[in-house]
Amino acid sequence: MAQIFINANRSAGSINKNIYGHFAEHLGRCIYGGLANADGSPRADVIAALKDLGVPVLRWPGGCFADTYHWQDGIGPKAQRKTIVNTNWGGVTEDNAFGTHEFLEVCRQIGCEPYISGNVGSGTVQEFSDWVEYCNMPGVSPMADLRRQNGQQEPFNVRYWGIGNESWGCGGEMRPEYYADLCRQYSVFLRDYSPQAKLYKIACGPSEGNYHWTRTVAERAGHRIDALALHYYTMNDHQDWEHKGSATDFDRKELYTVLRKALFMDELVENHGRVLRQFSPNKKLGLVVDEWGTWFDVEPGTNPGFLYQQNTMRDALVAALTLNIFNNHCDTVVMANIAQVVNVLQAMVLTEGDKMLLTPTYHVFKMYKAHQDARQLETYAETRLLDHEAEGVPDVQVSASQQADGQILLTAAHLDDAASLPVTVRLGGLKAAAVQGVVLAGAPGAHNTFAAPETVAPRALNATLTADGFTAVLPPCSVAAFTVTPA
Ligand code: AHR
Repeated sequence: MAQIFINANRSAGSINKNIYGHFAEHLGRCIYGGLANADGSPRADVIAALKDLGVPVLRWPGGCFADTYHWQDGIGPKAQRKTIVNTNWGGVTEDNAFGTHEFLEVCRQIGCEPYISGNVGSGTVQEFSDWVEYCNMPGVSPMADLRRQNGQQEPFNVRYWGIGNESWGCGGEMRPEYYADLCRQYSVFLRDYSPQAKLYKIACGPSEGNYHWTRTVAERAGHRIDALALHYYTMNDHQDWEHKGSATDFDRKELYTVLRKALFMDELVENHGRVLRQFSPNKKLGLVVDEWGTWFDVEPGTNPGFLYQQNTMRDALVAALTLNIFNNHCDTVVMANIAQVVNVLQAMVLTEGDKMLLTPTYHVFKMYKAHQDARQLETYAETRLLDHEAEGVPDVQVSASQQADGQILLTAAHLDDAASLPVTVRLGGLKAAAVQGVVLAGAPGAHNTFAAPETVAPRALNATLTADGFTAVLPPCSVAAFTVTPA
């Protein structure tokens, strides 16, 4: 029996809905065959699934691709658009059928905010500044006129702009001092064209635990930006990049290694947050985790440059742990974008021809949806340490929030793959009138296939009211969500 406490009297603040954001890159089948058809038009079944998920924000066009992308190649009549080579991802041909207008149409149909990563690595300040003018200028100007010529009268009002991607790596192998100067320069020329599109500027942040990067950029460019973007992927221990381990076929040691590494996000967010606060005591500088998720070997027989991987209950646990961490650090994390939304890395949706399936990770995001913009509540879980092969992870990890209508959502990841866990949940500061549970459970390697797309799907979970909360039993290897209606 484990005890979980929810304290409705204490909160770290509001959970920014953008923590539940996504990322789409011109990589493999994320765009063509994923979000869009070959001609760049939105793919209706995928868009409907993402709309249902409540995607708040979508980052595009990369990733590494962003620092090779010249946006003017992707506007105007499709027959006249340039065909280029996607040098980062498989050397495939990119005909630019999906460009700025197509991306913003996808966002409109999903009902989410766009977040555009601009090219700092191989572009120019003028090119980036023109892109902002093209998207946001309401009046007469060269770029606004060009947009109108291409069929869009009204400005798109894109607020979120990323200043380069992984500038310490694929974005130009820069030193933080050099990047900080460039970031200042770019930032000066990215203008607010209207009050409806006050820009939110996101600088390239660190990889994992590179605190020197965070400190240098925050100190030198912090006054010109709104946030820094951290990248952290959860992987197995591996000797070389070609052997990161299978996404579906893994042993217990690999399971617990991956879960332990997912929990490392807590330390990263805590420490980078602390550094940011040194340079913005009023918490003005936010942390955006705009790439996170699992990264395993590609599915056998698929293009290694396409990063197509299956998605199991292990991925669901990683998603649940990470989202709980973000919820609990909502005073620091202002946005996060899991990589990537369709057919790439830890995807929500996989497609094969006309077929589409929802992954276990999709279901976790859906079960957590009510956390978006809710007030985080302090929680405490009495845990046991699971000591499989000395990996040492807690058996249960939680977060909770209260929505505007008073309802409380408690989300719990139960990491023990061998036994069920009875839990007693106690509520401090309020009384429950009703409780409803939903659970996603299965063997760690369980996943959905096109032949059996419902193998891992949420189902109802019994929960019983008590004098000061409720009780329930968490199945082995599961993610649970409990909605409490206060009396
Ligand atoms: O998400 C795949 C790649 O991972 C991105 O393009 C890059 O930014 C990161 O290294």
